[in-house]
Amino acid sequence: MTDRELVTMAEDAMTRAYAPYSGFQVGAALLCADGAVYTGCNIENAAYGPSVCAERVAFFTAVREGKRDFKKIAVVGGPAGKIRSFTHPCGVCRQVMREFCRDDFEILAFDGEQIRSATLITLLPDSFSPSDLAE
Ligand code: THU
Repeated sequence: MTDRELVTMAEDAMTRAYAPYSGFQVGAALLCADGAVYTGCNIENAAYGPSVCAERVAFFTAVREGKRDFKKIAVVGGPAGKIRSFTHPCGVCRQVMREFCRDDFEILAFDGEQIRSATLITLLPDSFSPSDLAE
């Protein structure tokens, strides 16, 4: 699975975004250590609060299927599904990644031309993680 292939899967997932309120469509494709890929799109809600990001849909779907070991995630987004700039995971999604991923977990962003790669430790330094709860 190349980075470009993972981005393409995120683009495909973005087409299924349910974003009637913001109009901002997002797709994510999460690569597991075993090579499986789980995708997600953002799903909004009239009450706003229950809305969920594409990244969390991908993570929770994967965890539901018994996956716990993740390598990287590709994220794409844009108004009306038009990718014009890099879309980076929100703070809540970064914290969800922290729950399951090591520092070197890779986050790929795509602006329609280039793929940019970052690690979780750079996007969420000095974070609170499961190890903080250990006695
Ligand atoms: N959104 C995502 O799904 N992922 C991100 O990384 C950023 C934001 C969604 C949430 C909301 O449905 C819409 O994009 C606008 O914020």
